Amino acid sequence: MMDEIASHIMDIVANSLTAGAHNISVLIEKDNEGPLFILDIKDDGVGMDSETAKKVQDPFFSTKTGRKVGLGIPLLKGTAETTGGTFSLTSEPGRGTRIRVAFNAGHPDLPPLGNLKDTILVLAVGNPEVNFLFTYKDSSREFVLDTAEVKELLGGVPINHPEVISFLSKYLDEHL
Ligand SMILES: Nc1ncnc2c1ncn2[C@@H]1O[C@H](COP(=O)(O)OP(=O)(O)OP(=O)(O)O)[C@@H](O)[C@H]1O
Ligand SMILES: [Mg+2]
Repeated sequence: MMDEIASHIMDIVANSLTAGAHNISVLIEKDNEGPLFILDIKDDGVGMDSETAKKVQDPFFSTKTGRKVGLGIPLLKGTAETTGGTFSLTSEPGRGTRIRVAFNAGHPDLPPLGNLKDTILVLAVGNPEVNFLFTYKDSSREFVLDTAEVKELLGGVPINHPEVISFLSKYLDEHL
């Protein structure tokens, strides 16, 4: 499996979509003052109770119980910890879930960013009913894409209309 930040984002956001989220925010921040690379994903989906939130972080949970539990969360946690970074998952039933990861950007095992542009595009146009707030920050720029705002500007035109997709694609190429 290719380890890229963008595929982790895809995995974690897929969980938020499965959890029925209507609003999902994704923050990617390279802190140039310090050694940290932050990934912060927040949703307003069904959430988890504290016991579940703990269990889903454990890669050996599924083998112990025989229940099928996925690997998206343990993989991201493992990658963060391998770089000497941190992982935190907070969740509240009925309210939503937040996953915040700090990678140590100076570590040789920090995965490459991968194709962030296509990840954002696919999520935004593939889930027209969901509002995404994507933020990318580093020392040279801050990029924000708020799909609720885009949809508002579009009037009734769907965000997955072919012309909107190609506009968004160019917009991401130029600004991200
Ligand atoms: N944002 C979320 N909101 C609510 N529940 C979540 C959320 N993210 C994860 N979960 C719960 O944690 C479980 C484990 O997530 P994880 O991504 O590790 O594996 P998975 O999604 O089950 O399988 P996969 O390996 O395909 O990702 C999910 O099945 C779900 O029950
Ligand atoms: Mg998953």
